[in-house]
Amino acid sequence: MDLFEYQARDLFEKHGVPVLQGIVASTPEEAKAAAEKIGGVTVVKAQVKVGGRGKAGGVKVAKTADEAFEYAQQILGMDIKGHTVNRVMIAQGADIAEEYYFSILLDRSNRTYLAMCSVEGGMDIETLAKERPEALAKVEVNPAKGLDAEKAQEIVEAAGFAADIKDQVAEVLVTLGEVFDKEDATLVEVNPLVKTGDGKILALDGKISLDDNADFRQKDHEALVDKSAENPLEAKAKENDLNYVKLDGEVGIIGNGAGLVMSTLDVVAYAGENHGNVKPANFLDIGGGASAEVMANGLDVILNDEQVKSVFVNVFGGITACDAVANGIVKALEILGDKATKPLVVRLDGNNVEEGRKILNDANHPLVHQADTMDSGADKAAELAHNA
Ligand SMILES: Nc1ncnc2c1ncn2[C@@H]1O[C@H](COP(=O)(O)OP(=O)(O)OP(=O)(O)O)[C@@H](O)[C@H]1O
Ligand SMILES: [Mg+2]
Repeated sequence: MDLFEYQARDLFEKHGVPVLQGIVASTPEEAKAAAEKIGGVTVVKAQVKVGGRGKAGGVKVAKTADEAFEYAQQILGMDIKGHTVNRVMIAQGADIAEEYYFSILLDRSNRTYLAMCSVEGGMDIETLAKERPEALAKVEVNPAKGLDAEKAQEIVEAAGFAADIKDQVAEVLVTLGEVFDKEDATLVEVNPLVKTGDGKILALDGKISLDDNADFRQKDHEALVDKSAENPLEAKAKENDLNYVKLDGEVGIIGNGAGLVMSTLDVVAYAGENHGNVKPANFLDIGGGASAEVMANGLDVILNDEQVKSVFVNVFGGITACDAVANGIVKALEILGDKATKPLVVRLDGNNVEEGRKILNDANHPLVHQADTMDSGADKAAELAHNA
């Protein structure tokens, strides 16, 4: 999960990274009140999870609280690269003498952490990396040791900080490493990290990506989720512990085992080429224990997707045998009752397949079609979606 700047600022503060006051506002009135509270020069900053806000007109310096009101009025509701601005942060204005860049991230390909640092910050870091790569220091950080004082020294040396501030910067880098480590982040970026006129080091803009795999031990992170941006179907699936990803197609997919579901997506996309180019509508892995309840929850999510025109249930009976899955489907349709309105193609194979098929035949549900093979099932489901 990526955080908004104001959320990153709060986490920075929690771990002792020097930041300025920042108050989030969703109306011009709130922005004005925040600017009055902070006092003096403030900066009105669009809160969107995309870079380049400044260039897009989403960062404006306000000399007075009335100006903060005006800028908030302009920035709220603005569209920045497809992201609507619903909130601004009113930040205390800084007297900037120099701008630097720092980030630490999980470097998957090299199985390590990587710190990047430059005394030429503020600007677009991708451009700097491309045009003047020598100005961007890259230093590996051993995940077992983390960003300790020694490593911080190595980074400030490599980046070429002036002698009079490098110890101070190194201290701040250690606190940023702390954020990265303690919050289970995969990215912590500060652009710009600044030196003020009176020689203080401050993090003026922060980006943090958190590792969702660590949610089990990061209970506070739940509160950082932006509910307004969550896909409602994905949120519902999450509530029911389903492994679901919404896609942009018409054929709903349910399978057991991630590998089988992935290949089902491929086969349906391929079959769709013969049926008006219909595509898979989702990824949904109901896992090993395909109980009636799990099946009902899964079907409920998929049938609530307005784009879905047909559903392909592709199950290979293993530990949970086909008869149990078939009973699950029959019961799920009972549970859903009138809510089940779209045709269902079911392909069962594997353990107890004969019993499973018989259960579906006997139930004789008007929406259920059976298929013998994965290919024929995908073809039928694509055809039904196209003709719906
Ligand atoms: N609190 C502040 N006081 C004074 N100037 C600021 C403040 N915050 C930002 N600025 C100035 O505005 C510039 C752009 O701000 P910021 O880095 O937050 O946005 P951005 O870089 O455009 O957005 P993003 O990092 O999302 O691409 C900074 O480089 C800095 O010069
Ligand atoms: Mg920035």
